[in-house]
Amino acid sequence: MLQRPRRNRKSEVIRQMVQETHVSAANLIFPLFIIDGVNQKSEVASMPGIFRYSIDNLLREIESCLKLGLKSFDLFPNISEELKDKFATESYRDESLYLRAIREVKKNFPEACVITDVAMDPYSSDGHDGIVENGVILNDETLDVLGKMALAHAQSGADIIAPSDMMDGRVGYIRNVLDDNGFTNVSIMSYSAKYASAFYGPFRDALNSAPKFGDKKTYQMNPANQREALIEAELDEIEGADFLMVKPALPYLDVIKLIKDNTELPVAAYNVSGEYAMIKAAIQRGWLNEQRAITEVLTSIRRAGATAILTYHAKEVLENKWL
Ligand code: PBG
Repeated sequence: MLQRPRRNRKSEVIRQMVQETHVSAANLIFPLFIIDGVNQKSEVASMPGIFRYSIDNLLREIESCLKLGLKSFDLFPNISEELKDKFATESYRDESLYLRAIREVKKNFPEACVITDVAMDPYSSDGHDGIVENGVILNDETLDVLGKMALAHAQSGADIIAPSDMMDGRVGYIRNVLDDNGFTNVSIMSYSAKYASAFYGPFRDALNSAPKFGDKKTYQMNPANQREALIEAELDEIEGADFLMVKPALPYLDVIKLIKDNTELPVAAYNVSGEYAMIKAAIQRGWLNEQRAITEVLTSIRRAGATAILTYHAKEVLENKWL
């Protein structure tokens, strides 16, 4: 035998020397849930170890992450039901929980990278990402709301705006609004290929944001489609996106790879709430080794082509020095 591939695996030193893929703190983005009140911290039942924080506790949480070298955060608000309406007006009210949180984080930690979620669902009395009329999700009318929301986020200090709504044309629309108002330096991380997935269940529990009727299949993508992701990615690139995101991550590694092979932009992947819940449930039952399962998941997402990973595991892998 001339070729014996096992020679390159014979010791830890050589295995590390030839390792192709690495995950580091710099690649990780930590999603954080925010609730109203003071000194609040409530665990998401379906996401053990993940909490909703009031703003004061959010600042403490971010401080402890920064000490670990975790510097990028994606914020999501839990909005009380009485503040929701058909047009998600709470999303751009100056004193809203979310805008106050962005301002406080940037004031206390200017070095942190704050990513904000642009979509109507946490603020919508219909629980949808767009304006609903007679059961139909309106596209162009929704863009106006998304533009107002994105502008409010930029004015509050957001570094990166992440539209997660899947309306057509929203990246270009938001880019125009930002530029017209002098925010040419605020980036857009577009949820380009966002699938109508079962794996968002725990997130909707965390925010109480599930659709009040129907599903999201007229705007989020069909899980059976791969080529369609290229159309979405190409449009977002033309419209001015700085990052292209694939979501969820694990069931869509092929899509991450496909988009990576077809763009020069950095690709992000969202290792979503249901993926986290699945791993944690198996670990709690003693069915998986925690460190090995989690690092294998994150490595596989990087190997598929993701530059940045949004993951609920971000803090624990650094805290436990698993990377
Ligand atoms: C809202 C949004 C969702 C997620 C991120 N932004 C849920 C949805 O589209 O219903 C899911 C994140 C996760 O499951 O971790 N537009």
